[in-house]
Amino acid sequence: MIKGFIFDLDGVITDTAELHFQAWKKLSDDMGWDFDREVNERLRGVSRMDSIHIIKDHNAAEIPEEQLVELATRKNDIYVNSLDQITPKDYLPGAQELLTLLRQEGFSVALGSASKNSTKVLQQLDAIKFFDIIGDGNSVSKSKPAPDIFLFGAGQLGLKPEECIVYEDAEAGIDAAKAGGFHAVGIGPEERVGHADIRFDSMAEATLFEVKSHFDELF
Ligand code: BG6
Ligand code: MG
Repeated sequence: MIKGFIFDLDGVITDTAELHFQAWKKLSDDMGWDFDREVNERLRGVSRMDSIHIIKDHNAAEIPEEQLVELATRKNDIYVNSLDQITPKDYLPGAQELLTLLRQEGFSVALGSASKNSTKVLQQLDAIKFFDIIGDGNSVSKSKPAPDIFLFGAGQLGLKPEECIVYEDAEAGIDAAKAGGFHAVGIGPEERVGHADIRFDSMAEATLFEVKSHFDELF
């Protein structure tokens, strides 16, 4: 039986995926590096340091690890500054409604994000109240596609993976959910999250009604 839901943050609850893109783009421009939306797709759900390695490799740049840490910190400063513009109006369509309904129906809810900035984002949205547990980039060391962040969330909720549904917009996030034995809802195009148990183009379509209909025998 489904007792809990675990949500990714960036690209599921709110469109911080775009703000991450803008910050990496600014850093890349400053460095004279090539960086576009195609490369950005490969950063979805991927940790900050893994992301800078992907961008560096894409540009065949040779940079010592120490300087990479500095550059990732610079990107993070740009990103964190941009978070001040987020308000409770910035939920992705459908996300706030879904979280409200899960509270009303008494489901357990956890965050399962790779971001170390998740608390700040949730505060800006006034979304802390929707979560029993906040699992993020500070909670585990192995990032997606490892299942650790979702196993952390389920464990903290006192639930087994098969009792939880994970919402994810990243290819690596669906891999992580499946590796952990969770049911997975993919948000985004077929080529990115087509390997989820069920996929929707957007959060607006991924309603509790639709998900309950799909996983009918589990509710
Ligand atoms: C994920 C994003 O949620 O968090 C990635 O999809 C991001 O793009 C990662 O790199 C880490 O985020 P942060 O805020 O710790 O740099
Ligand atoms: Mg995401």
